[in-house]
Amino acid sequence: MNRPSTATATIFLFLVFAVSALSDGTREPEGDVLKLPSEASIFFHNNGGGDNDDSVGTRWAVLIAGSNGYWNYRHQADVCHAYQLLKRGGLKDENIIVFMYDDIASDEENPRPGVIINHPQGDDVYHGVPKDYTGKNVTTNNFFAAILGNKSALTGGNGKVVDSGPNDHIFIYYSDHGGPGVLGMPAGPFLYADDLIDVLKKKHASGTYKSMVFYLEACESGSIFQGLLPKGLNIYATTAANAEESSWGTYCPGEIPGPPPEYETCLADLYSVAWMEDSDAHNMQSESLHQQYELVKRRTANENSAYGSHVMQFGDIKLSKEKLYMYIGSNPANDNFTFVDDNSLRPSSKVNQRDADLLHFWHKFKKSPEGSTRKFEAQKQFVEVMTHRMHIDHSIKLIGKLLFGINKGPEILTAARSAGQPLVDDWSCLKGLVRVFESHCGSLSQYGMKHMRAFANICNAGIHEQQMAEASAQACDHIPQGPWSSLSRGFSA
Ligand SMILES: *[C@@H]1O[C@H](CO)[C@@H](O)[C@H](O)[C@H]1NC(C)=O
Ligand SMILES: *[C@@H]1O[C@H](CO)[C@@H](O)[C@H](O)[C@H]1NC(C)=O
Ligand SMILES: *[C@@H]1O[C@H](CO)[C@@H](O)[C@H](O)[C@H]1NC(C)=O
Repeated sequence: MNRPSTATATIFLFLVFAVSALSDGTREPEGDVLKLPSEASIFFHNNGGGDNDDSVGTRWAVLIAGSNGYWNYRHQADVCHAYQLLKRGGLKDENIIVFMYDDIASDEENPRPGVIINHPQGDDVYHGVPKDYTGKNVTTNNFFAAILGNKSALTGGNGKVVDSGPNDHIFIYYSDHGGPGVLGMPAGPFLYADDLIDVLKKKHASGTYKSMVFYLEACESGSIFQGLLPKGLNIYATTAANAEESSWGTYCPGEIPGPPPEYETCLADLYSVAWMEDSDAHNMQSESLHQQYELVKRRTANENSAYGSHVMQFGDIKLSKEKLYMYIGSNPANDNFTFVDDNSLRPSSKVNQRDADLLHFWHKFKKSPEGSTRKFEAQKQFVEVMTHRMHIDHSIKLIGKLLFGINKGPEILTAARSAGQPLVDDWSCLKGLVRVFESHCGSLSQYGMKHMRAFANICNAGIHEQQMAEASAQACDHIPQGPWSSLSRGFSA
């Protein structure tokens, strides 16, 4: 992938999930179908969108922002925007489950306290957003429990889960940083692709949805499904990027269009606003998932520039002929605005997800008065982030050389498997090596996710934990002090 060779690459993941029809996606014939008792639930649930088409069942949504920190403003802004969209589409609060750290609106850096925007001229998207899972309750475990509808597996939060029946449709949308095979979480370990796929298989086996759509924004988001998501689960997924590239933040300081001048942070993500701004403006009863996919793909490619990514689709592609309103409802105000094969909303330059934090500290630094505490603080943050990045990049490179030799090391660590193959064969090996590395070298953190492919390739080459421990100990003679230590942050696996 074409990341800058400096230590300043950006990670960013954006996931959207939608749920599609059970088993083979074919429609049951209307009329003389035996209704199972569990299907009776559809008569008691709300029919989002206010229509009485019982083939739609109940629409459920899980929205999740995987980051925290003001420099990651955009992920929670994306999720708040998605909530407003679904709400206007007719979904009920009881069917929309929101995971967000909830530290942005009240952050002292936020120029509009209590307000979050997702577009330079955008209105507040924060009002009314349910606080189902916030702060340290935004974990992989709770996300999985919510999808599965398993309340007893929850550790925190308000207990809202996807309590769906066989006729229901589920939409899942994730926005955050990611890396090969992983997605970020603000609290606790990363989400690993194999665990997510297991959860989706379990959900399917429980017979509690008809179909699911999953929209995912993150760097290397294609690696979450590539070679892993089987057909036949009635799941259609699209990702912001392929398995080997960054996804992109947008409405960033210094861009045109950029945020209002008082904002020193990106407001949104490119793939995310592509699907949401399209959905905001059109009649979702007439637009298909496929039409949206094509449009989002074009906008996210950003005229095939280096500042864009390749939107991918996975799973049961045939579901994409379905209309979007089955998953996200439709705003009645858009009834007369059908999809046109054109997209005039095309922001220009973009910021690599992994560099958006640096951009924030840089703009904060530039705009602070000379000699102020704020300027000093921004400089300190910038240097700390850069130092951590260099430490992580350097130690992983060195470990590769120690394990495979000076010449072959770099080549083995960066090799990408062919399309259709999963990142790694043995996921427990991957998680084990991450823990070994972090116990010697400190936390990978958000930035370090980009090296997940190196860990995967070390596993694929048959290296065991003991060998990894020896190489890590040699590469890192001490764990760096301060905010990046794995001792204070906990392990990523
Ligand atoms: C729900 O989670 C609990 C705790 O993790 C587990 O023991 C139980 O088997 C789960 N139930 C189902 C139906 O998966
Ligand atoms: C996490 O969930 C628990 C249990 O519902 C709740 O008491 C707590 O306030 C939540 N924590 C945060 C930070 O929201
Ligand atoms: C759509 O167009 C029809 C016919 O012009 C009009 O009566 C109706 O009010 C419009 N609906 C909306 C939501 O604008």
